[in-house]
Amino acid sequence: MNRFFVVTPLDFETATLQEMKDIWPFLLGKDAKPHGLPFPDVQVLEGGLEFETELVVGVQLNFFLKTANRVLLRMASFKARDLPKFYQKFKSLPWLEYLHSSHVEWKIAAQKSRLNNEKRLQESAQSALQEIFPSKHSSEASGSIFIRMDDDLCTISLDTSGEHLHKRGWTALRGDAPLRETIASYMLKSLIGANADEINAVTLLDPMMGSGTLLVEARALWSGQFLRPYAFQKWKKAPKLFLSPSFALNYEIPAQPQFKKYLGFDISGNMVSIASANFAEVEKQLQQTGKKPFQAAANEFNHVDAIEEAQAPEGSDPLWMILNPPYGERLPVAINGGLPQLASVLCSRYKPQRIGILYPEKEKISPAPKGYRVLKENRINNGGLRCLFTVLTRL
Ligand SMILES: C[S@@+](CC[C@H](N)C(=O)[O-])C[C@H]1O[C@@H](n2cnc3c(N)ncnc32)[C@H](O)[C@@H]1O
Repeated sequence: MNRFFVVTPLDFETATLQEMKDIWPFLLGKDAKPHGLPFPDVQVLEGGLEFETELVVGVQLNFFLKTANRVLLRMASFKARDLPKFYQKFKSLPWLEYLHSSHVEWKIAAQKSRLNNEKRLQESAQSALQEIFPSKHSSEASGSIFIRMDDDLCTISLDTSGEHLHKRGWTALRGDAPLRETIASYMLKSLIGANADEINAVTLLDPMMGSGTLLVEARALWSGQFLRPYAFQKWKKAPKLFLSPSFALNYEIPAQPQFKKYLGFDISGNMVSIASANFAEVEKQLQQTGKKPFQAAANEFNHVDAIEEAQAPEGSDPLWMILNPPYGERLPVAINGGLPQLASVLCSRYKPQRIGILYPEKEKISPAPKGYRVLKENRINNGGLRCLFTVLTRL
């Protein structure tokens, strides 16, 4: 058994835990068949989830967790008050099973500890690795090691993810103020709630889609991301299963819910081209890794002003909307009266059955627009700005 820590954005912990529960039965064992292990005892901590499971199972969470930042493998946790003890313990860890050279990236944080000099901790750990890999030099880092000293407790972890998990590898083109994919997925899961079985009949509209992050994430919400590289695939003891280019075909995941149509508007023609290209890319990647026959998703992207001129195309009812409209100094709100007025106009113009809007906390949409009530409100830290994601439902 190995210990893992899934790093999540603050306040996303329970959403990530739910994602983990949903995908757990479908993860594979070494033999490429469902692993059959019971769901682990998960400690929900601030900013992450800690639990034990088999290596082959834990690393697969990278493919499926849409709201997580990364997955760390805990290598050791021990009390250390002096550098020689730290050095000895660090050197005794089984680095040879994972790394190819002493060239690694370091993430070190120390607080309230006798060993609180991060630079000295790194030098000590680096010299231990150089002893383990005396002759191996490589220009490419062979992994990332996280060291945390807190109250003299040293926790050493090895990154299994590589690039941050919000980098899905399917949206090459970005607009102004793009939404982080982890936040987009969190918003979508909150919008959908327990109604996933209804969405096959629903058109999803982002009326201010920018580069289309919300629509692209909605399209792939329950699919794995298999085509981007993950750090664990380079390990010496990487499970062989994941080295085969077609390993994704082993997953026996039942057909996933899909919106009836993915609809996007933007006032900028450039954004419409970018969003269309991003959506086409995710479709292509899903087709490449999914089971046959592939079901393409209906989609439409229009260059229109969502406030003044656009209409939802015929047949769009029931319509759900989701958006992060422009706000802040760089992108002022696109309507006089600010966000409460924008919410009112969108509700009366499109009459969505459900609408979820991300906006700064200080601009609270209250009271709800006429004919609507607040279904839920989630706090989200969007790039340092305290925001609310409010879901309204038609009365
Ligand atoms: C904050 S960005 C959305 C970012 C998007 N979620 C993404 O991840 O790329 C807001 C978008 O609203 C668009 N916009 C502003 N006013 C609009 C209007 N009246 N109608 C349609 N789009 C509008 C802007 O062009 C911009 O692309």
